[in-house]
Amino acid sequence: MSIATKTVSLNLVLLGGPGAGKGTQAKRLETDFSLTHISTGDILRSEVVRETELGLKAKKYMDEGDLVPDNLIIKMVESEIERHSQEGFLFDGFPRTVGQAEALDDIIVIDKVIYLEVGREEAVRRLSARRVCENCGENYNLLFKRSSEEGICDKCGGSLYQRKDDKPEVIKERYDTFWDKTAPLIDYYVERELLTRVDGEQGPDEVYSRIRSILDILG
Ligand code: AP5
Repeated sequence: MSIATKTVSLNLVLLGGPGAGKGTQAKRLETDFSLTHISTGDILRSEVVRETELGLKAKKYMDEGDLVPDNLIIKMVESEIERHSQEGFLFDGFPRTVGQAEALDDIIVIDKVIYLEVGREEAVRRLSARRVCENCGENYNLLFKRSSEEGICDKCGGSLYQRKDDKPEVIKERYDTFWDKTAPLIDYYVERELLTRVDGEQGPDEVYSRIRSILDILG
């Protein structure tokens, strides 16, 4: 599907449990709407690889499927926002607690929250089959999107690996963490009339079309 790039100054949040498709949709939205994509999961993984002070603190929470404490995350996102002068942010995996949402409201006005709804069974199916390039971060999936050569990235030739938190026991913890700590954000944003639900169990193109139609009305 070819879609012209559209520049908007909307600030968007993609909300959803593990494997809901936030990252997949964010990559397309970032390009098509010229938004600055802030994925707290990607930033944290890069901090872990570089063994920074933040990465060393975050690792144990991530490995266990728990959330990294709010104070660390909020400081990290604040500095990301400051680094980009351009308006129009796409938050992927942030906020994840009411505390984070309140902190974000103090910094920026959120225009829309898209909640990607995916059940536990589908999330486990997707995440158990996900493989990621250790070099460029490209995502593959043994069920839906295989690389041409087993274990090798089509884009850069890097090796593909399974995220440590994509093991079944950690996926379960992440899913429980979502319902325990992040799901209260559904009501938080419904009360502010910002949230629209999207059936995330459809294929990636169908999900994207639905999000696109929601944003076209806004922008
Ligand atoms: P993070 O990386 O954000 O993990 P997550 O939210 O669990 O998200 P995922 O990347 O697993 O799923 P996704 O919804 O992005 O789906 P994706 O598009 O990749 O966070 C990791 C950890 O960091 C957290 O557990 C926590 O410890 C910490 N952290 C991060 N942010 C934090 C915060 N704000 N506060 C505190 N701690 C934080 O797709 C998944 C798979 O499904 C892929 O293989 C894809 O190809 C496939 N797929 C996607 N869409 C579809 C579709 N429509 N149909 C079929 N397959 C699909």
